[in-house]
Amino acid sequence: MEKKIISTSFSFCHYEELPTEYRQLIDNAKQQTKKSYSPYSGFSVGAAVLLENGEVFSGSNQENAAYPSGLCAERTTLFYANAQRPKIPVKALAIAAFTKGAFLNEPIAPCGACRQVLLETENRFAKPIQILLYGEEGVFIIDSVKDLLPLSFTKESMA
Ligand code: THU
Repeated sequence: MEKKIISTSFSFCHYEELPTEYRQLIDNAKQQTKKSYSPYSGFSVGAAVLLENGEVFSGSNQENAAYPSGLCAERTTLFYANAQRPKIPVKALAIAAFTKGAFLNEPIAPCGACRQVLLETENRFAKPIQILLYGEEGVFIIDSVKDLLPLSFTKESMA
């Protein structure tokens, strides 16, 4: 048997080090946590998407009494952006989470289903999406969804 290794990488920086465009995107994601509908988890997630033409779309997690019917902030936002601007590539996505009266110190990473949806968008436009994960202690920057979801299932898998 042969062991195969897939490695991945991401960058860490402080919010203040980021270019204005990305700081604004994070600010927007943080603002969106206030509009989250999360009465069941009390975990408010905000997301903001920057398109290649400079437009920004944002959203939050939307929960439901029938738990699986709810949707994460990332997918709410991405589907909204793709539905409104089906021809404009997505350049970056920022995510922030607020719970128990504060933003998280360490960033949260998107769930598996959101990674799959992010990957579809990245492949659809054939342009890498930068993902900015906000934490009070610093920001994780991932340069492509492929770094978040190695060994993925895509349309090529069905060829
Ligand atoms: N959630 C998100 O919106 N994004 C994530 O990356 C992780 C989890 C939401 C789903 C649910 O409303 C709540 O956070 C708790 O899981």
